[in-house]
Amino acid sequence: MSVFSEAIDNFLSPIADLLKDDKISEIMVNGASEIYVEKQGKILKVDNKFRDEENLMSALRAIAQTVGKKFDRENPQLDAHLPDGSRIAAVMMPISQKGTTFSIRKFFKEKVLLKDLIKWGALSKDAARFLDICVYLGKNMIISGGTGSGKTTLLNILSSRIPVTQRIVLIEDTKEVNLDSNHVVHLVTRKEDPTQNIKPVTIRDLLHSAMRLRPDRIIVGEVRGGEALDLINAMNTGHEGSMGTVHANNPEEAALRLETLCLLEGTQIPYTSLRQMIGHAVSVIVQMRRYSDGLRRVSNISEVLGVDNNGRYIIKDIFTWVQKGKNDKTGELLGEIVPCHYLPSFFNEIVVNKLPFPAAKFEAPDWVKPLKKKKAA
Ligand SMILES: Nc1ncnc2c1ncn2[C@@H]1O[C@H](COP(=O)(O)OP(=O)(O)OP(=O)(O)O)[C@@H](O)[C@H]1O
Ligand SMILES: [Mg+2]
Repeated sequence: MSVFSEAIDNFLSPIADLLKDDKISEIMVNGASEIYVEKQGKILKVDNKFRDEENLMSALRAIAQTVGKKFDRENPQLDAHLPDGSRIAAVMMPISQKGTTFSIRKFFKEKVLLKDLIKWGALSKDAARFLDICVYLGKNMIISGGTGSGKTTLLNILSSRIPVTQRIVLIEDTKEVNLDSNHVVHLVTRKEDPTQNIKPVTIRDLLHSAMRLRPDRIIVGEVRGGEALDLINAMNTGHEGSMGTVHANNPEEAALRLETLCLLEGTQIPYTSLRQMIGHAVSVIVQMRRYSDGLRRVSNISEVLGVDNNGRYIIKDIFTWVQKGKNDKTGELLGEIVPCHYLPSFFNEIVVNKLPFPAAKFEAPDWVKPLKKKKAA
C-alpha cells in the first residue's frame, strides 16, 4: 500500500470496513451520521458514523489535498479520484443542508467483461454477440441510461472490443474508462483555476484536438454539453464506430437529448436539419436501466433509421428486455432480453463479413408474443 492510500485510509477510518467490502459498490455519506451503501444492487442504511461534521470536513479536506485539489469555502464541491481509481464527489455544508455530503463509487480492480454482464443477467449471450458485431462493423453507438445505470461500464467493455489495428481517441471529464489497447490517445478535461491562471480545457476543446489527431474512432465518456454537436459531426464525417454515453430513459429520449445538447450550444442549424444529422449519425442506441429489483440490465438495443416525414425519429428495437414474472422471496424480476423480430438494416454487412449471426437470431421467441398481447389487452 502506498503512503498516499494509507493516508486516505486514515481519514476514512470510520468507513474503512465499507471500503474493504467487495460487495459494496457505492458509499453515500449524508452528513456525519447518516450513511448508506449500495450492496449487490440494493441501497441499505449502515451504522457507521463520522465523529462529527468537523471530523468529516477535515477528512475530505485532507483527501482533496492528497489528490491535488481544494475543498473549502471557495471550492465547496469536489470531484476526484482516489489512488485506487474510486471516484469521490462531495458537496460542503451549508450548500448541502444536512451536513457535508459525499459519495464514493468504488473502482473494481477486476475489469468487467461482456461475459460478466451475461453472468449477472444484464445481457443474453446473443445480445452480447450482437453488440460485439456492431462494434466490429464500426456502427456509431450511443449508450443511454439514467444515473448509475451502468453506462460507463458498458462503454468500457464495448470500447475494449474495438479491433486493435484502429486508433482510438478517448475523451473524458474524469478518467474512468480503462482501455488496454495500445493505440489509444486518452484525453481528460481540465478545470479552470484563476488563481494559477489556468484556463479550462473542455470536452468540446478536446474533441477539436481529437479531430486533428487522426482518430479512426472517437469515444466520449459522457456527452452532456455542446460537444454533442461535434460528436455528431465526427460520426457523420468518416469516424464510424464512434461512441458516447448520454443520460436518457429510453432510446428516443436519447436522440432528443442529443438534439437538446446541440441546440444548447446556440447552433444556427435549423432543428429539422439537426434531427436529420442525428438520425443519420447514430446507428445503434443501447439503453441501460436499473430496475426496481436493483439490477442493472440492458433494456433495449435499438437501431436509429433516420427521421420520418413528420420529423420523428425512426427507432426500431432489435432486442428488448421482457419481464416474465417476479421471485416473491427475493423481489428479483424474472425476464430475458429477447430479439424483437426485426432485422437490422445492416444485416447484409453481417452476412458479407461472414459473421456467424444468422437471421433466425433476430426472430422473437414464441413465448414473448402472448406476453405482449396480454400487456396490450
Ligand atoms: N450490469 C451491471 N450489474 C451490476 N453492477 C453494475 C453493472 N453495470 C455497472 N455496474 C456497477 O454499477 C455502478 C455504476 O456503474 P457505471 O459507473 O457504469 O454507471 P453510469 O451509468 O456510468 O453512472 P453515472 O451516471 O454516474 O455516470 C458501478 O459500481 C458498476 O461497477
Ligand atoms: Mg458514467
